[in-house]
Formats: sequence, C-alpha cells, structure tokens
Amino acid sequence: MSKKKLVFSGVQPTGNLHLGNYLGALKNFVSLQKEMDCIYCVVDLHAITVFQKPNDLRENVFETLASFIATGLNPDRSIIFNQSAVSGHAELAWILNCTSRIGWLNRMTQFKDKAGSDKEKASVGLYIYPNLMAADILLYKATHVPVGADQKQHLELSRDIAQKFNSDFNCKDFFPLPEPLISKNVARVMSLRDGKKKMSKSEESDYSRINLKDSADDIDKKIKKAKSDSEPIPDNLKNLEKKPEALNLINIYSEISKISLDKVLNEMSGKDYSFLKKNLTELLVKEITPVGKEIKKLLNDKSHLEQILKKGKEKANIIAEENLKNIREKVGLI
Ligand code: TRP
Repeated sequence: MSKKKLVFSGVQPTGNLHLGNYLGALKNFVSLQKEMDCIYCVVDLHAITVFQKPNDLRENVFETLASFIATGLNPDRSIIFNQSAVSGHAELAWILNCTSRIGWLNRMTQFKDKAGSDKEKASVGLYIYPNLMAADILLYKATHVPVGADQKQHLELSRDIAQKFNSDFNCKDFFPLPEPLISKNVARVMSLRDGKKKMSKSEESDYSRINLKDSADDIDKKIKKAKSDSEPIPDNLKNLEKKPEALNLINIYSEISKISLDKVLNEMSGKDYSFLKKNLTELLVKEITPVGKEIKKLLNDKSHLEQILKKGKEKANIIAEENLKNIREKVGLI
C-alpha cells in the first residue's frame, strides 16, 4: 500500500517566535516543503484552551503567519492557514472525542504540566487538546508530522485514536497512522541563562532567548550576557556536556553554520568562549535579522496576510470536506 506522503504540522500562535522555534520547527518545515506536500496550520483553537485576549490572539496569528512566510514557507507550494477557518477541525474533534478514551487522556504529561496543581480549574478544552490535535492530522489523512520531542506522546495518542477508529468502524487503513518526524540533527535550543531549560517565550527574562525580531544590537548584548564557562572550550563532547550552557551555545553555532559539533570543537578547543560568542553573534545577526525585518514588513500589510490565509483555507477546506464526507458516512451520520 503506497499512499502518498502528506505532511501536517501545527504551531500555536504565541507571537514573538524565537530561535528555538526557528531552528526546531520553521527551518525544518521549509526543507520538508521541498520534498513533500505540506499543510502548515496556525492552531488558534489550541491557543484558546488557555484564555487569550481576543486582540492579542488575532495579532499573534498574523505574527506566526508572518514568521512562516519570512522563514521561507511558500503559500503557493504548501497549504498555510489558521485552524479555526476550517470548521472540519472542530467537527472531527467532536467525533474523535467519542473515539478517544478518558484513560488515554489521563496519561498525557503535558496536561499535568500545564494544568498545574489545581486541575479542577483547567478548561475542559485543555484536557481534550490532544484529541483536537489528532483531528488536525487525521482530517487531512496526513502521514508525517514534524513535531518537537515534547509532542511525541500526543502523536502516539493520534495513532491510537486512528487505529481505534479504523477498528471500531471496520475500515482498516482508513486513517493512516501518522509518523512523527523528529529531526535528529536539530539540537534542542536551550535558554541562554539556564542550559537545562528549553528556550521559551514564557521565561521571564528576555535575555534567555533570541527573538526573531531582535535587532543586531539585541543579539550582541544577549550573546555577550549568555552564560558559558570560565574554562576554555574543551576538545571533546564529553567534557562539554558537563556544561549545559556552553554546550547550548556551541550547538546553536553548529546548527547555523552547518559545521558538525566535533568539527567546531576541533577548531575552537582551547579558545575562550568570548571567541565563540563573537563568531556566533556574527552568524546570528546574518541569519536572524533579515527574517525579523521581513516579519515586520509583512505585519505592515495585513491585507496581504489575510489573502494568504484565505487561499490556504480554501485549499484546506476542499481536502477536509472530502474526507469528512467519508468520515460521517463511516460513523453513520446522515
Ligand atoms: N500541540 C502542538 C504544540 O503545542 C501544536 C499542534 C496542534 C500540532 N495540532 C498539531 C502539531 C498537529 C503537529 C500536528 O506544539
């Protein structure tokens, strides 16, 4: 059975995307777009599982879209849209709420982290969030899903849901079981202040991250202030791994320069971190500031962005409606 490959991924409209999003997701999306059919979705329905101020949400959807385009996603090539514009996501999510099991959701570690100590006060949406994610993927019968390691459990749940649906309704292979694409070479980008934490927009200090919209000056200051190590750069990975902040800087350098970690260590061992930082700053300024400028430019023309969303929504809707027709029939809905 050689079905056509189809990539689907979703990004939450958080606004203010950073180097972690860029190296961990966006650049990977751009390279996948060259090899396969891809659908990239700004998942606004996922965002509202925790309260969002309406104006901020709207702005963040535009900003996430602008970051997609500025990084090189091509709306003529890939389908790019916002989730709530295609109502099939919500409809299929309801059907899958009835396929998914409470026991399965109870095992989701992200809910436990996000809901915190007072689970009674979390929204019901936050609890069933993984079912909506399954709906996003299965609505298009996507076969490959690029996600960060933190989403692996959700993707496994999507596979379980697909499998149970196929078996409940006696339609083997109806939903393909989506495969995660967890890119091996993309190192996790960590906070510049704490090498054990992921770079995140929710960390309080802006010095912990490089934002895509940072100026050359911001980048320079942040890298100068970034934690590293007082000893010179070691000549092997084993010693480097003991210093997570230093490892993180070298990882970022290796990712952007496309020079392997071993080679970077070969070239830089014995030198001070200030040497690495100077080179890293140059690379980051060259790579990131044009993206930031493009994001700002795109955000100045909302009607152009709206046009992109409209086109994406129309293309997505055609696939979604066709699949939903068959799904409704399988379930017995008239
Ligand atoms: N849950 C994902 C995240 O927080 C976003 C997401 C929603 C997603 N739907 C998806 C990712 C479908 C991949 C496929 O990162």
